[in-house]
Amino acid sequence: MHILLTGSTGLLGRYLLKDLSLANIPIVTVVRPKGRQSAQQRIDNIMANLEEECGQKFQPPHVLAGDICEPNLGLKDNDLKWLTENCDSVLHNAASLTFHATSDAGEPWRSNVEGVKNVLDLCEKTGIKDFHHVSTAYVCGLRSDKVLENDLDVGQELGNDYEKSKIQAEELIRSASFLSPPTVFRPSIIIGDSKTGFTTTFHGYYVPLRLIHTLSSVIADEGEDTPGRRLSLDGTETKHFVPVDWVSAAMVSIVQNPEHHGQTYHLTPPNPATTTMTRDVLEKVTGCYGAIFCGADTVIDDPTEIERLFYDHIEVYNSYWRDDPVFDRTNILKAVPHLPCPEVTEDMLQIISKAAIEMEFRWKEPVKVKTNSEEIHAKI
Ligand SMILES: NC(=O)c1ccc[n+]([C@@H]2O[C@H](COP(=O)([O-])OP(=O)(O)OC[C@H]3O[C@@H](n4cnc5c(N)ncnc54)[C@H](OP(=O)(O)O)[C@@H]3O)[C@@H](O)[C@H]2O)c1
Repeated sequence: MHILLTGSTGLLGRYLLKDLSLANIPIVTVVRPKGRQSAQQRIDNIMANLEEECGQKFQPPHVLAGDICEPNLGLKDNDLKWLTENCDSVLHNAASLTFHATSDAGEPWRSNVEGVKNVLDLCEKTGIKDFHHVSTAYVCGLRSDKVLENDLDVGQELGNDYEKSKIQAEELIRSASFLSPPTVFRPSIIIGDSKTGFTTTFHGYYVPLRLIHTLSSVIADEGEDTPGRRLSLDGTETKHFVPVDWVSAAMVSIVQNPEHHGQTYHLTPPNPATTTMTRDVLEKVTGCYGAIFCGADTVIDDPTEIERLFYDHIEVYNSYWRDDPVFDRTNILKAVPHLPCPEVTEDMLQIISKAAIEMEFRWKEPVKVKTNSEEIHAKI
């Protein structure tokens, strides 16, 4: 039987495609077409690149063109019949990472809440009971105490619309009585590959990195006499960066072992990075030194031009400009004792940062499988 994977064209989805393929688990994936590329071509390209990377052939996923925002994910009746006959579990990973909604009908509500309702409806229609869902550790919102894996709504304040949409999604899934108890994965801040630094998306950690990298030439022109740039942090705050390869490996191991289904897992590192370590890495990789911690919650009311630009651009991440809570890891340690999370060291963060800078904060899948019009052009 196949597992239905959503979000297979994103960063985590790409690693899930690889790890599920390496585990020989048959995959069906719902993908939307993009630009001139059909859903099939998008996945064919990713699989061709993954096969090259792994040096082996994989069973190709069954690709269904669709969109989680449409009823039945926009699938045709014969696709629903195919799923009923060939699929018994879902790994729902697709989501919008929009932090602030511009309307009640827009993102992140559209994909993360309405999309989840559509995926649940599809499961009910096709008899899929085994549900694995990718949530986020930040459904804990602005909590500062220890967060247990089984906690969800304990009355906490939430930091942004994304967190609100992800908590609503978890609630919908947990109340779907036709499902077996769902498995919920809660990664913290996903960064690139722990060994190569590879990434395809540049949210979270990459936003301040990109900004400082961009501002570095302006800062260099200011000369050495300018005052240091003030950070409204004290340097001891923790940030739970977690490499994408480990998140995916841990998820696929749990998916493969039914005795671990039905639990909630914090996919978080045991030892989070501090803001001092993060500042040091950002300075080394951008060559832009001179950031000073002036205390958590300090109000910088006379910002320099550089400080103003910096704080304006990271405003969307304001709710993460603070100490993380402690994330309990009891369930994840029990389920994957053979897969310890790699330590996010200063060296690893440097590899990850340098890879993103080298990629110029852009990723375009190398085209291995051409679209029809590209093939026609190639023949002319
Ligand atoms: N990145 C993090 O730091 C982080 C942390 C915690 C949890 N998470 C969770 O991890 C999961 C994967 O995140 P990611 O970082 O891999 O994000 P990503 O790289 O932005 O990928 C998002 C994926 O979802 C798909 N998608 C979005 N809306 C869709 C729609 N309406 N119909 C079909 N597909 C749709 C995208 O498809 P297209 O390619 O067509 O756009 C893409 O494949 C998400 O559930 C996210 O909430 C992420």
